[in-house]
Amino acid sequence: MGMGFAVRWATNHEIIIGSRKLAKAEESASQVRQATDCGKVWGTDNAEAIKAGDIVVLSVPFEHLVSVTSDLKNSYTHQVVVSPVVPMGYDGKYFEFAPPIEGSAARQAMAFLPEGMKIVSAFHTVSAAALKDLRKELKGDVLICGDDKESKDVVISLAKEIKSLKQVDAGPLIISGQIESLTPMLLNVARRNKLKEAGIKIIEER
Ligand SMILES: NC(=O)c1ccc[n+]([C@@H]2O[C@H](COP(=O)([O-])OP(=O)(O)OC[C@H]3O[C@@H](n4cnc5c(N)ncnc54)[C@H](OP(=O)(O)O)[C@@H]3O)[C@@H](O)[C@H]2O)c1
Repeated sequence: MGMGFAVRWATNHEIIIGSRKLAKAEESASQVRQATDCGKVWGTDNAEAIKAGDIVVLSVPFEHLVSVTSDLKNSYTHQVVVSPVVPMGYDGKYFEFAPPIEGSAARQAMAFLPEGMKIVSAFHTVSAAALKDLRKELKGDVLICGDDKESKDVVISLAKEIKSLKQVDAGPLIISGQIESLTPMLLNVARRNKLKEAGIKIIEER
């Protein structure tokens, strides 16, 4: 997902790629520069990436959310934090939503971060493969929720930059679990019906 966000947003923004390994971050940054022809893309360790950013996208598996939130708590000051994180399991047959005690990954991130951080939950139903492929216009919707209007508007405008993804305001952060739970459903349906890079669209039957 991280590479997808980077290539989609590099045209209009400075992109800082964080990693546990500096060399990996620098290599990913170089790949994004090549793919986009944009110069302001660089890589560093996670702590520095967070400190240097205005918007932090927590693009790590749910099991490792702690390592980019509470373990790096001191790196956070003013940033808008975006969570595309989906807590889910696989029982050998089906993907299942497996939320933490807080009800969602986004609410757990909020609990791990310094008080007052603005969290926006989004992009859970966007395929990473489709996001990364700049030739693709995305046909789905992105459901976005959060408690702070200004931060939510920032993420809505970032989502608008991804051609032709449609943004849907899904409400406050408390409903993030509902959005996160769509991903295992989508993966089960995609697998059963042999759909590639499945997404979600909210329609109006009128
Ligand atoms: N894949 C999708 O289609 C998709 C769609 C919607 C939402 N999501 C959500 O987006 C998030 C990222 O998904 P992804 O598929 O991009 O994940 P991923 O490729 O499995 O992992 C992303 C990055 O997480 C870091 N990471 C791995 N283990 C870690 C650890 N122990 N501690 C700290 N960082 C670790 C790694 O970065 P470094 O090695 O560079 O540190 C890795 O490159 C997930 O929460 C997922 O649920 C995914």
